[in-house]
Amino acid sequence: MPTKLIIDTDPGVDDAFAIALAALADDVELLGVTSVYGNVPLSATTINARRVLALCGRHDVPVAAGAERPLVHRHPNEARYVHGADGLSGRSHALPEPTRDLDERDAVTLLADLLDAADEPVTIAPIGPLTNIATLLAAHPRLAGKIARIVIMGGALGHGNSTAAAEFNIWSDPEAAHRVLAGGQAPCVLVPMDLTYRCAVDAVWMTELAGSGPIGAALDALTPDYREHYRGALGWDGMVLHDAVAVAEAIRPGTLQTERLPVQVECGFGPGRGATHADRRLPALRASSAEPDAAPEIDVAVDTDLDGLRAQLLSALRVNSRVPGEDPLRTL
Ligand code: BDR
Ligand code: CA
Repeated sequence: MPTKLIIDTDPGVDDAFAIALAALADDVELLGVTSVYGNVPLSATTINARRVLALCGRHDVPVAAGAERPLVHRHPNEARYVHGADGLSGRSHALPEPTRDLDERDAVTLLADLLDAADEPVTIAPIGPLTNIATLLAAHPRLAGKIARIVIMGGALGHGNSTAAAEFNIWSDPEAAHRVLAGGQAPCVLVPMDLTYRCAVDAVWMTELAGSGPIGAALDALTPDYREHYRGALGWDGMVLHDAVAVAEAIRPGTLQTERLPVQVECGFGPGRGATHADRRLPALRASSAEPDAAPEIDVAVDTDLDGLRAQLLSALRVNSRVPGEDPLRTL
């Protein structure tokens, strides 16, 4: 039975890879895509998501635009310094234009309608700030039972990337992240940057993807600014496809190994704002010092078959458009 999936996203280069992964896979039913501010403003993330779907020939997938800003506080910063001025290394315009209109509904309404209509539980993969998902859970608690899992790219067990303590998606809207992770309404899987960094792909992987066909070439063409950023962050020529790692788990449960851990989001205003504190003490020690309002346990991804995952991503992204005979590219 294919996984029923909705992606909530802020493309973003790694988001583009993650969307393509789901859009091209046979073992997933991609019900919809919702956009959120994040790496770049909402208008840019929305058109980027629609163009990536057009690249993959997925004119059947509805896209609805969501939050323009975090729930409570202002967004501290975008991530153009990572993803380029338009979120796709300045290459968004080179993707095919969508033929399907933007959905008239807002993101939360589309999410609610898709959940309501589903005859079996739906997986949601938030790969941007969690604002839309927190709003969905607050506004439609009745629908939480229709959610199979919320597989989130976000958080850090060690150091962060936006700040010393915090990872970008959680740091962008810590209150929303707290609402989703601590709310206990639906099972959550957190895929933190510690693991996504270990799944980084190298220049050989990129060259193979670029030479695999028009979609691989188009995805590769979106990467120059991102790759340059990660050349500095990693210290070698490679890229971290954070969001694709989370979507791989969303599509095929068990791709990543998880640990059940209590996780608390830091919502204060000190240097730790946006940190995800995972309690990795031995369970017996945790139990002996348990506080009444201790954070609920969630699944945290801690390991995977790294080479196996890279190979799986490459083979999934190498396939050509699902629409036979259609040339997905304009001017790349
Ligand atoms: C996350 O932040 C964004 O910049 C990426 O798209 C990813 O979702 C990684 O910290
Ligand atoms: Ca993202």
